[in-house]
Amino acid sequence: MASTNPAHPHWSSRLLFVLAATGSAVGLGNVWKFPYITGENGGGAFVLVYLFCIVLIGVPILMAEVLIGRRGGSSPIRSARRLVDQLGAKRGWRIVGWMGVISSIIVLSFYSVVTGWALIYIWYALSGRFTEAVSGDAEPGAALEGMFSGLLADPAMLLGLHTLAMAIAILIIGRGVREGLERAVRVLMPGLFLILLILVAYAAFTTGRFGEGLDFMFRADFSALSWNAVLIALGHAFFSLSIGLGAMMAYGSYLPQRVSIARSALLIAALDTLVALLSGLAIFPLVFAYDLIPSQGPGLIFITLPIAFGQMPGGAVIGALFFVFLSLGALTSGISLLEPSVEHLTEQKGLTRWKAAGLVGGFIWLLGIASALSFSSWSGIKLLDRNLFDLFDYLSSNYLLPLGGLLTALFVGWVMPRADSLDELRMKDGIAYRSWRFVLRYVSPWLVAGVFLYGLI
Ligand code: PHE
Repeated sequence: MASTNPAHPHWSSRLLFVLAATGSAVGLGNVWKFPYITGENGGGAFVLVYLFCIVLIGVPILMAEVLIGRRGGSSPIRSARRLVDQLGAKRGWRIVGWMGVISSIIVLSFYSVVTGWALIYIWYALSGRFTEAVSGDAEPGAALEGMFSGLLADPAMLLGLHTLAMAIAILIIGRGVREGLERAVRVLMPGLFLILLILVAYAAFTTGRFGEGLDFMFRADFSALSWNAVLIALGHAFFSLSIGLGAMMAYGSYLPQRVSIARSALLIAALDTLVALLSGLAIFPLVFAYDLIPSQGPGLIFITLPIAFGQMPGGAVIGALFFVFLSLGALTSGISLLEPSVEHLTEQKGLTRWKAAGLVGGFIWLLGIASALSFSSWSGIKLLDRNLFDLFDYLSSNYLLPLGGLLTALFVGWVMPRADSLDELRMKDGIAYRSWRFVLRYVSPWLVAGVFLYGLI
């Protein structure tokens, strides 16, 4: 008795849904964050724990989100409201939809700023600035660090880049699901995979250190693993799969009835993980070949890698490809962050896609100014000892996403009757469905509560 809204558009095929959702999942989290947290946390054992989290928390909650979206057939806010009303559940559960939309707005406001860094680094690579920096008088590390901090200290540049990133997202989302989203992911996603393969091949065939990269990422040394690292892995599973903030609900609302949610979710999670692992395999051999340090932290791809790009033959092209790859990933994630609120405004207020995208996008653009300026003119504004950019990042990754995911797991696992989820997943009442429901009820919420509590302490 799924309620489908006939006027609501649908993805033209399962493949396009999987591409779009993978586009949302694959982003800065995979290319920027995953390699550096792997590096900081000692490699192999951390990767193993991360994989475990993807399977035990990521996939079940991803399925639950898509399920809410398709069953509700509208924006996260309206889907949650509709299901809550249909099930006669407490009105408070409507928060599952609201929270997602609010979180997606906050996340996009700073995500767009980082997207801007990726975009300008394409130019830095092409114009030979990495080579210039490593061959100058200064020590290469200091020179590249200077380049990065110089960018952060340039408010006009950051604002311009933030504006560019938001404008691209608005242009894609404004065109609608089929004309905008589908067309974009059709071109961007194959491009992204292709560039990634080129980069991995480059690392494999030219650095002579591929074995060390493999070893670093896959040889598990549990003595290097801290409890803290486990929690970081857990939190990152959320961010990387884009769960906990309604993006997957919005994309799920366009999912045709016949498509299997479980199979799609497995495929999305597998692709997302593959891209994260391959990014590591593209990056670490370079790190070893150029005597850089894997545990260098957030600067790994903006400071460390350009040292390698600056020294290697053809580094301008390989470096540019790398940052094109990063930008594509960031853009296909950015559009999925804009979609929940745009979908809501078009349905609820009857706005056209263009108006809704312009309105929400404009608002997020305004909010993002705070992040863009937080490294320069507004660096004095601090809350909880963080500048505004770090504050938004910290609040969303540590509080909003885990909380959103926790509520989703509880709502679908405990409030929604078994028959409803069984029906919407189009599964047989066998071992697969039962394991999913068991994990969603008893395993994921506890693990997520762990991350959440950790964020509090
Ligand atoms: N999953 C994206 C990444 O890895 C980030 C994201 C989070 C996108 C939540 C949408 C929603 O970069």
